[in-house]
Amino acid sequence: MYRLHTHCRACGLGKPDISTLKFSVAAGNQEVPQKLMEVLDLGLMPLANDFCSQDQERAGYAPLKLLWCPRCTLGQLSVVVNPEIIYRNHYPYVTSPSKTMKDHFASLVSDLKAECETDLVVEIGSNDGTLLEFMQQNGFSKTYGVEPAENLANAALKRGINTVNDFFSAEVAQDIERVAGLPDLIIARHVFCHIDDWTHAIAAIDQLCGKETVVAIEVPYFIDTVKNGEWDQIYHEHLSYMTVKAMQAALKGSHLHVSKVLRYPIHGGAIVMILRRDDSEFAKTPLPVEYLDKSDLNTFAARALDRIAVLKKTVNELIEAGNTVVGYGASAKATQWIQSCGFTRKHIKWICDTTMFKQYKCAPGSDIPIVDEGALTRELPDYAVCFAWNFMSEIVAKEKIFKAHGGRWINPNADIEVAPRG
Ligand code: TYD
Repeated sequence: MYRLHTHCRACGLGKPDISTLKFSVAAGNQEVPQKLMEVLDLGLMPLANDFCSQDQERAGYAPLKLLWCPRCTLGQLSVVVNPEIIYRNHYPYVTSPSKTMKDHFASLVSDLKAECETDLVVEIGSNDGTLLEFMQQNGFSKTYGVEPAENLANAALKRGINTVNDFFSAEVAQDIERVAGLPDLIIARHVFCHIDDWTHAIAAIDQLCGKETVVAIEVPYFIDTVKNGEWDQIYHEHLSYMTVKAMQAALKGSHLHVSKVLRYPIHGGAIVMILRRDDSEFAKTPLPVEYLDKSDLNTFAARALDRIAVLKKTVNELIEAGNTVVGYGASAKATQWIQSCGFTRKHIKWICDTTMFKQYKCAPGSDIPIVDEGALTRELPDYAVCFAWNFMSEIVAKEKIFKAHGGRWINPNADIEVAPRG
């Protein structure tokens, strides 16, 4: 189901070979420890999107441990779960149709149009085609998606989005070039950190780039994750936790460089790294200066354990006092909270979610049912834990009836203050 991965995916630190040793000696820093540092060990966890009905076989548990590279600042997991198990058959994560996401797409696409021509765009990890459809409506004349999950690729095809149902690879890149030519833009939203073999992925991207092709890689920004204590972003799908410095290390040996970095508030803080070919005529923009050290990581880990303890205590106290507590948003992040707090349906009665692929299944590793979004208004529970905290302002604004009847929200990712039921 999984295998260990104990050397840095970006710069190779910890790889027992002579070239790595030469690299660190050449960097002149004999003090740098030659191993990845262990940051946070969350123990055995279920796969974050393994939503199953009662009678379905579950994928199982794998260790979830965050490591950190003191040389290039990449965060990464200590294991790689077989991607065929996570993504291939029925992957339930669909790109959110929310207003928050639509607003993000609008600013992202407008920023990208300022960077490149708008003839052909290729999206790696194109999900159900939501972004490509938006790009077609906003000036990109040809789109091409690559998506390994069959259910999502089929959903995209149904809405008329040209999609190849496969993992992105050198072979897929070759096919795209043959059929459609070299793209003006290659976009990869929240997928690069899901890829294990960066050498292969970067070579395949490199091969699909013309002289002025723009590559836009959107990832959660590890600096923000650490600063904001967003420990619930750590799950098996997120193999890596990205900084610009780490990306630069990963690009060594390719013909690409980071030419610009754009910042967005989506998903708790994300960056889009604009990559260009080294022979591009486009001028580079100054890149952000990043600060991240061992003590930041230690603080992050302590804060994570503290937040888990606080949510566990809060929910236990509320139910002991006779309140009903539910969850809102069966996000991958919800799985991390449920497992770490040891919640069952006695604690969280149900979680409501708009995603058809998740409804009427159980939250991974638990007996908590996922129900439709209307349940909040139908049942009017006392408290709702917003596991989709990245969409919280939109959700709170939408769920007026819950609030009007005295329902209270709990944001697990903030310093929890539980107001008494109104
Ligand atoms: P999301 O934060 O996008 O991702 P992840 O799974 O990577 O943590 O997940 C948000 C979940 O919340 C998703 O399953 C959809 C759900 N959701 C609702 O049910 N209602 C809403 O209004 C919104 C915005 C999201």
